[in-house]
Amino acid sequence: MSGSTFGKLFRVTTFGESHGPAIGAVIDGCPAGLPLTEEMIMPYMEKRRPNAGSLSTARKEADRVKILSGVFEGKTTGTSIGLLIENTDAHSSDYSDIADKYRPGHADFSYDMKYGFRDWRGGGRASGRETAARVAAGAVADLLLRRFGIEVSTEALVPNALDIPEGDSVGGLVACTVTGLPAGLGEPVFDKLDARLGAALFSIGAVKGVEFGNGFALASMLGSKANDGFALRVTEDGKKEIYKTTNNAGGVLGGISDGDHLQLVAAIKPTPSISLPQKTVTRNGEETEIRIKGRHDVCIAPRAAAVVAAMVSLTLIDMLMENAVCRLDRLEKVYK
Ligand SMILES: Cc1cc2nc3c(=O)[nH]c(=O)nc-3n(C[C@H](O)[C@H](O)[C@H](O)COP(=O)(O)O)c2cc1C
Repeated sequence: MSGSTFGKLFRVTTFGESHGPAIGAVIDGCPAGLPLTEEMIMPYMEKRRPNAGSLSTARKEADRVKILSGVFEGKTTGTSIGLLIENTDAHSSDYSDIADKYRPGHADFSYDMKYGFRDWRGGGRASGRETAARVAAGAVADLLLRRFGIEVSTEALVPNALDIPEGDSVGGLVACTVTGLPAGLGEPVFDKLDARLGAALFSIGAVKGVEFGNGFALASMLGSKANDGFALRVTEDGKKEIYKTTNNAGGVLGGISDGDHLQLVAAIKPTPSISLPQKTVTRNGEETEIRIKGRHDVCIAPRAAAVVAAMVSLTLIDMLMENAVCRLDRLEKVYK
């Protein structure tokens, strides 16, 4: 039930709706001793904020994160971390005209079918606004990953803004690369690294495809070209090291990280809310036309890049923690 909690050891619960007083996240399972301040979280929030470009929503939220708990004298205490982000720029009246009309491509219809009614103000919980809470929690995960030399970076690949007709929207891609990831992350068989990352990315609204490495292109390749060969090289300190000569696999073999760069791409559909007239029906079953006012991203991909990074970081820190107890010698190091 409910589905607002993510992760096994590093657990994040998000709460809040687009036009409620606030959104936020509670993190349970963050190790004690991590330096953490509100200022350290803000650069991550900045990456998700609408920019001045023509592709972003006109809704301007400060996205100021308040740390409510779990931090004392600038360090995490090991107890649950409460993160709060107030909604300061919601215009619910933009939605009153379309309160009983189903927006094509959005979650209005399916929420109504599931719950029998819905919060129509800005999409409620199905709004992209919910992802701000993930980015705040993802910042804490990323700060932890960096302590182990693991760096998550994302880039949005978007169409030329000039190709978009007035009032319409477009899709895009978000490419993610992770460097410094050790081999061994991923739990056979249902908690494979790619399975968990896939679930994490598909939990983001508007993500309609995820591929690892060469992904869908692998389906039309020959095995002799698709297989990543192994070779040996000598490290700076004179040790022999196994490496892959190519990375079609995207850094995952058998659901376990292979020590290479992790590479994935998420496909993002066009923003559902567009101001062009569209055919739809009302919740009373009358055919009608809808013109959506509101303030919407023309292309979601640039802002989703920060959300993809957050979900990848949250998944990786969780799996890094799980991997720490997979061998007896590791447990003995802690307890003997
Ligand atoms: C960062 C981000 C921003 C979004 N902005 C908008 C938006 O401005 N307008 C809109 O209609 N949908 C927006 N969405 C997409 C909807 O949340 C999503 O399409 C909706 O929940 C339906 O889910 P589905 O597309 O996965 O079926 C955004 C999503 C993300 C991740």
